[in-house]
Amino acid sequence: MRATVVCGLGGHVPPRLVTNADLGEHLDTSDDWIRSRTGIRTRHMVSADTATSDLAVEAGRRALKSAGEAAVDAVVLATTTPDRPCPATAPEVAARLGVGPVPAFDLAAVCSGFLYALSCAAGLIAAATADRVLVIAAEAFTTIIDPQDRGTAVIFADGAGAVVLRAGTPEEPGALGPMVLGSDGEHRDLIEVPAGGSRQRVPHAPGEQYFRMRGRDTYRHAVERMTAASGQALARAGWTTEQVDRLAAHQANARILDTVAERLGIPAERQLTNIASLGNTGGASVPLLLADAAADGRLRPGHRVLLTAFGGGLAWGATTLSWPRLGPVTDPRTP
Ligand code: COA
Repeated sequence: MRATVVCGLGGHVPPRLVTNADLGEHLDTSDDWIRSRTGIRTRHMVSADTATSDLAVEAGRRALKSAGEAAVDAVVLATTTPDRPCPATAPEVAARLGVGPVPAFDLAAVCSGFLYALSCAAGLIAAATADRVLVIAAEAFTTIIDPQDRGTAVIFADGAGAVVLRAGTPEEPGALGPMVLGSDGEHRDLIEVPAGGSRQRVPHAPGEQYFRMRGRDTYRHAVERMTAASGQALARAGWTTEQVDRLAAHQANARILDTVAERLGIPAERQLTNIASLGNTGGASVPLLLADAAADGRLRPGHRVLLTAFGGGLAWGATTLSWPRLGPVTDPRTP
């Protein structure tokens, strides 16, 4: 079977930087509360004229540049915040990147969207439908957040990350390991936007057009699912936790990340994080983290990396790869 190999990486966040103190100007919260409960100090947010496709195009452009070759056979865009309900955002992104008329479609798995999209792209490559796939995870997440809801407004943020994948062999650096994915729709109400879909077309009560999260229950499920999925991915790859050089987990909340790492037995110095500066960027957080760490040298060729994510659905996933040598990766904060 053809393996799927990472050969390009890029990340991008919008320039508008928002501090905890900025949020405290219109919200009953404090820098101390936000830092101690979430680990977040700053985050980047889109301005009114920026949509998900704008973030996706820039991250995609950077990933294609890092891959050194602009051609791909398909574009998969993971997002919770498409530019509009219909059509999908991916065809516009493909066209603006100049890679059309390849197949391009959106994928909805909230904060696990990047891992689901990797798996989908690996399927396209395994079936020889495509030799090269651009996977982008992009979120203008703050556009669905109620600015007055202090339980979510302090956590979520905007950004995009992208990888170029190509057909290769399982032994190559960058080859994706076995993929573990799961979902539990019984708990769909833990993380939801109640209105705006076919079930409930318009808000029946104020605020139902916004994202809602039951924080405590989400916390518990996030820890359990990311820990379990990571263990399964390691077992399927034949790796021990001691062999993991870098844990790249969805940047949900610093306390969740610490607990997952502790339960897995991965020491803090092997955990990649950037939640303090970028917040929780939904599905974009894992590729943004990889781009950030590759740019500043925390992630280097040869590192054995464990990826995991969890989010609304509920949906979760995990996989492994040995980090490859890539073309230059820029700091996602670079304008
Ligand atoms: N600033 C100040 N106080 C806040 C606050 C804020 N931003 N948000 C909530 N509070 C208050 C609550 O009103 C509550 O006050 P009360 O005790 O007077 O009623 C108190 O803090 C505790 O609220 P609670 O919701 O129980 O806090 P928590 O310790 O569970 O922390 C989260 C809240 C959201 C940080 C935490 O539940 C969490 O991290 N959950 C997971 C979130 C996550 O990672 N989601 C992404 C998954 S993809």
